[in-house]
Amino acid sequence: MTAFADLAIDQDIVDQLTEKGIEEAFPIQEQTIPISLPGQDVIGQAKTGTGKTFGFGIPIVQRLGKDPEPGVKALVVVPTRELATQVYEDIDLLTRGRSTSVVAIYGGKAYEGQIEQLRAGAQIVVGTPGRLIDLAGQGLLDLSNATEVVLDEADKMLDLGFLADIEKIFQRVAQKRHTQLFSATMPGPIVALARRFMSNPIHIRASDPDEGLAQANIRHVIYRAHQLDKDEVIGRILQANGRGKSVIFTRTKRQAQRLVDELADRGFAVGGVHGDMGQEQRERSMAAFKAGKRDVMVATDVAARGIDVSDVTHVINHTIPDDEKAYLHRVGRTGRAGREGIAVTFVDWDDLHKWALINRALDFGQPEPTETYSTSPHLYSDLDIPEGTKGRIAKAPTKKSGEDNKRGNADEGRSRRRRRSSNDDRQRTPHKQEGEGTHDGSGKEHHDGKPAAARRRRRRRRSSGQTQQGA
Ligand SMILES: Nc1ncnc2c1ncn2[C@@H]1O[C@H](COP(=O)(O)OP(=O)(O)OP(=O)(O)O)[C@@H](O)[C@H]1O
Ligand SMILES: [Mg+2]
Repeated sequence: MTAFADLAIDQDIVDQLTEKGIEEAFPIQEQTIPISLPGQDVIGQAKTGTGKTFGFGIPIVQRLGKDPEPGVKALVVVPTRELATQVYEDIDLLTRGRSTSVVAIYGGKAYEGQIEQLRAGAQIVVGTPGRLIDLAGQGLLDLSNATEVVLDEADKMLDLGFLADIEKIFQRVAQKRHTQLFSATMPGPIVALARRFMSNPIHIRASDPDEGLAQANIRHVIYRAHQLDKDEVIGRILQANGRGKSVIFTRTKRQAQRLVDELADRGFAVGGVHGDMGQEQRERSMAAFKAGKRDVMVATDVAARGIDVSDVTHVINHTIPDDEKAYLHRVGRTGRAGREGIAVTFVDWDDLHKWALINRALDFGQPEPTETYSTSPHLYSDLDIPEGTKGRIAKAPTKKSGEDNKRGNADEGRSRRRRRSSNDDRQRTPHKQEGEGTHDGSGKEHHDGKPAAARRRRRRRRSSGQTQQGA
């Protein structure tokens, strides 16, 4: 490993990293920073949690100089709002020793603060496509001097769901520029497409060729589980020895909220992050998870990419991801920065074909996931769950955390759904909301196997006598 100080990085940036205890560069940083600093276009590919953010962030900050003129000179585009906040924070850290300022521009938030920071002369913008285009269209965000452009989660940004937006953004930034694309996954056709936006890029893959595609620090456990038993299995896994923070992924927003409610009832400190939640609520939930106030987060694929929370020991795929890329990004929320993690994936009977494709793509050699029940002895031994554990925390939740859960999440989710019942149809138009990503359940809300109409009726009945807020 090479020290950051030996990579021709300015001392003030090295100092900020050192203050965070970060001194040795990770491989992707060691390989891309020296060529990126002089302005070489780069496609940087490295596994999840291996430091890609500083890999592109350091060259941007340094190339703008110590005291850049006011006005946007660098743009980092990311797929979700949560990731915008996080990348903003990482780059903000790098700029602390200089006058450069950074702003996060994303939807679901008031415009004023963002516009104010742009007016004040912010030089680096980190944002999601919808709001960026919105502000640029209103003449409030001038990208014509953006000579540093980054697509983080680049394969996602060049995927069909975002490509049109990305094209619009590239039309607005400077022609002559330094462009960096980063992701853990970079399929060949996307790399070919990416070249359209770059000039003579170098594609760097920082991984050991013998290592395989999956993160070596993650133990992958695959079970064929039964729909009705999954909550119980999850409740038991959440009591495994050594279990720290855990992220559970579902396919749809509704599945996510249902599981939040269920796990809260079972006594776990759980929150959600999905597209049916308001942005404030999403941010509060994420903050509570980061702070460890809640140690279980149930999310849709909106939280699958890029999100970095330390001490996530377990990722559980309640529903199988769409493909091997989604698998790698989801499970990559654990096993970060050299730590170890466990990923448990439930495969439904109906999803065996999907699993077969993922298994083949990742060369797991496990085409037949083990049939697993909450009572299966191998569940306990595989995951180090104490004997006799049941899927519910024996002790009723303490009043404080129980109330907190309700106020913070489980209950807010319920009331949102109540509200939805009256304007259900409008809400369900298959329009991709900015920041959600294409896998966030839009257009797929009923794929959880339950008839929507029946649920709506049930909900309406439950909500009779309640005030219909916001309806
Ligand atoms: N050189 C380093 N030494 C120690 N920790 C580091 C170093 N570089 C980055 N980190 C830390 O590693 C963690 C993961 O970094 P980062 O989020 O950039 O990963 P990533 O490669 O972008 O992952 P993903 O593909 O999931 O987006 C972060 O907490 C970051 O602060
Ligand atoms: Mg990242």
